[in-house]
Amino acid sequence: MPQAAKILVLNGPNLNLLGRREPEIYGRATLATIEAACRGKADELGLAIDFRQTNAEGELLGWIHQARDTVRGIVINPAALTHTSLALLDALKAAELPIVELHLSNPHARESFRQFSYVSLVATGVICGFGVHGYLLALEAIAQLVKANGKVRRRSRAR
Ligand code: DQA
Repeated sequence: MPQAAKILVLNGPNLNLLGRREPEIYGRATLATIEAACRGKADELGLAIDFRQTNAEGELLGWIHQARDTVRGIVINPAALTHTSLALLDALKAAELPIVELHLSNPHARESFRQFSYVSLVATGVICGFGVHGYLLALEAIAQLVKANGKVRRRSRAR
């Protein structure tokens, strides 16, 4: 049986507080619940996921640097770093991987400072406004991208 493609699912600052943090915007699901839902979806899609959250920008950048050689795609909810971090944009660019940007809320319908995304400049596509279901949609999207990529670029290393 072919090895499942590895996908890195990244969550930025304050997403560890999901369930308690502004539930009227982000819902009542905790990050642990979201991770469990992602694991179920990944099994269905034949993906292996590495699901992580950090409040530290440098740690997030380090994970993205490693991803270049270890995974086939990135799903990222960059949280507030979406709107502020040029370093995150540069790290994602350097990864040279398919990237799906994801938000629980729809930042375009919120404050003006949320309406610009550095990450969108490098993302293959963006999913926002669907709450927890957005994570599952993002996994479906990355599965398609990885499949399409695999057809044109078979890599020697299993990842
Ligand atoms: C978010 C939207 C961001 O604007 C915000 O800073 C977040 C969460 C979302 O999932 O809707 O922390 O990325």
